[in-house]
Amino acid sequence: MLIQRTVVSAGFLLILSAGLCIAKPIENEMNQKIDDLLSQMTLEEKVGQLHQIGGSFATGPDFKNDANREALVRNGWIGSFLNIVDLGYMRELQRLAVEESRMKIPLMFALDVVHGYKTIFPVPLAQAASWDPDLIEKAERVAATEAAASGIHWTFAPMVDIARDPRWGRVMEGSGEDPCLGSRIAEARVRGFQGEDLSAENTILACAKHFAAYGAAEGGRDYNTVDLSELVLREVYLPPFQAVVDAGVASVMNSFNVVFRMPASANALLMNQILKGEWNFQGFVISDWNSYGEMIAHGVAADKYDVACLAMNAGSDVDMQGYVYIDALIPAVKDGKVAEERLNDAVRRFMKMKFKLGLFDDPYGYINPERMKNTLMIKPFQETALKLAHESIVLLKNENHLLPVQKKIGSIAVIGQLADSREFRDMLGNWCAMGDMNDVVTILQGVKKKVSRHTKILYAKGCEAFGQCPDSLIQEAVIAAEESDVVLLALGENGFMSGEATSRAYIGLPGDQIKLAKAVHATGKPIVLLLMTGRPLTIPWCHENIPAIVNIWQAGTMGGQAAADVVFGDVNPSGKLPVTFPLTIGQVPLYYNALNTGRPVGPDGNPHFRSAYIDCPNDPLYPFGFGLSYTAFEYSDLILSSVKIGMNDVLTVRVNVRNTGKRDGIEVVQLYIRDLVGSVSRPLKELKGFERVPLKAGESRQVEFHLTSDALAFWSRSMTFEAEPGDFKVFVGGSSADVLEENFTLE
Ligand code: GLC
Repeated sequence: MLIQRTVVSAGFLLILSAGLCIAKPIENEMNQKIDDLLSQMTLEEKVGQLHQIGGSFATGPDFKNDANREALVRNGWIGSFLNIVDLGYMRELQRLAVEESRMKIPLMFALDVVHGYKTIFPVPLAQAASWDPDLIEKAERVAATEAAASGIHWTFAPMVDIARDPRWGRVMEGSGEDPCLGSRIAEARVRGFQGEDLSAENTILACAKHFAAYGAAEGGRDYNTVDLSELVLREVYLPPFQAVVDAGVASVMNSFNVVFRMPASANALLMNQILKGEWNFQGFVISDWNSYGEMIAHGVAADKYDVACLAMNAGSDVDMQGYVYIDALIPAVKDGKVAEERLNDAVRRFMKMKFKLGLFDDPYGYINPERMKNTLMIKPFQETALKLAHESIVLLKNENHLLPVQKKIGSIAVIGQLADSREFRDMLGNWCAMGDMNDVVTILQGVKKKVSRHTKILYAKGCEAFGQCPDSLIQEAVIAAEESDVVLLALGENGFMSGEATSRAYIGLPGDQIKLAKAVHATGKPIVLLLMTGRPLTIPWCHENIPAIVNIWQAGTMGGQAAADVVFGDVNPSGKLPVTFPLTIGQVPLYYNALNTGRPVGPDGNPHFRSAYIDCPNDPLYPFGFGLSYTAFEYSDLILSSVKIGMNDVLTVRVNVRNTGKRDGIEVVQLYIRDLVGSVSRPLKELKGFERVPLKAGESRQVEFHLTSDALAFWSRSMTFEAEPGDFKVFVGGSSADVLEENFTLE
């Protein structure tokens, strides 16, 4: 365990225990009410609670609006909807449920509020580059407040899938490649969404997805086969899910893939044994879009009857858009293939959340047009979005301090369709809920607000939306560049190039944007590349030839202002990559916490008889944890409190960090360990702690971490989660590839 410096007062403990005493009667009263309802419900009404269908738009294949929607509600055959966002229609459906159905059980309305509802934050992968769980929690609370004010009870977020393959478009939705960073961010998101009181106006149910190992799809191809060991499953892909269960997440969503050859929706190991057993998860599990029905394509079920039995008996509770439970679960229960108590358990888990939301007391509580109008996009929310966008931006290169650009510059060329786009979710990124492209501050707008009134701004589109660059547009861009003192070149992906079902076999700049880059480069003008992307891109030519590169990602509603604040120096970038940027796609999968292998490449880089390529180095273009600043930080005096610790001791790790530059800045100090000899081969580095450290120009600070044996525990050869005595290295630095190191022994 890495113990952050927190002191818990006796008084706080007293309040906590009192709180627990109060909570019990409420829980008992709720359980009694649920049991009373269950005792009166027909089999059809119980199954109906577990039936969820889509609303006004599709977020999966083969969707068709159900013409019987209202009748199903009136008969008590639907428990929740997704993708319904019209308040008036929500009120009508809720009225049918609570006034016309027999049991009068309120509905829940769900939506993918993944990085904001109306005020859109940077895509989650960008947010992870902030390494700021507290700010991310605040952002999710904003998202929950806007969603709850708009009738939404439940978000299908956070997406907590670890991803080591940037060909997989959904890398954009998660927190990158590391289980430690991913876990800290995942639990912060759940706290942000759910808060302490689910019946409050600014909280909604969270849903951790996709359970599990969806990011391990072979070839980075969405929905593809996942084949991994239980050790890797537990060491890499499960920790963020365990973290959110410990944080009290209300629901978990199945993934589409198999784990150990069983679809996740039918996987008793994942759900019954690990999630509900080992972790004692008290919430409910929902399928992903018809992932139940897809068991037939997976070849583990012949028909819906088999699917209903497999899913329910493995621990899957709610059926999203699959029409499996509604069509086939009743005969399965009547035939005794699914115990009615198991059905009752699923319904109990689900209805418990309706009680916690307060829907039985006030089913219309989240439907208030006045509150919605007064809540969306208010200034404090936009300020939070701007701050998180600032912290998400990663400075990748800044040769000869080209950045920041002077505001009084004579003329500046802003080039690229992405620099002034209001299409294809370009700055918002995919999964942007009710985000409106018209609300976006584009880069060009940000620049116009920033430069002096004497500065001449030249804009040229340079290319079309998906990266096609006709000569005519390139020529216009070249002319603009030639007339400028500096060029801001916005290149990268549009909002539909990352996210679900957007796997890319080539992850360079899309289309022929590189042609545009080379033409502008040929003018000899200094260029700042503003990278807009939902994933790592392979940009070796740009890295070699362009003096300054800033990764803006897809920075949300305030993205253009955030970019301008960084480019012109009002904000000093502090972002660090949460995911490796490979030099070329041929290196993938490439991640920092890899094993050493039996034939690691030596310091000479000679690939002969080594785990290496004969045509490419092993090193990434930009490593995990990397990010530059307008100032510089120097690490020194890495000191351990002891060279030996016992299983119950705390090792204090101290390091001195100095801001050696002329500007204030923030450094994300990262702590890694390496277990040199284990009962199984152990990674070269494992992130175990990090801290954002503000330092004024010239200021030094001693940063302290506390390591216990819990932080050194791993899944050993006997598949036990334990720390083993032995020698360790500890690393501290501002990137996984730039660290000081010391040694210690665990006895
Ligand atoms: C999609 C996605 C999932 C989303 C769900 C509902 O298929 O896989 O992340 O929450 O459908 O929109």
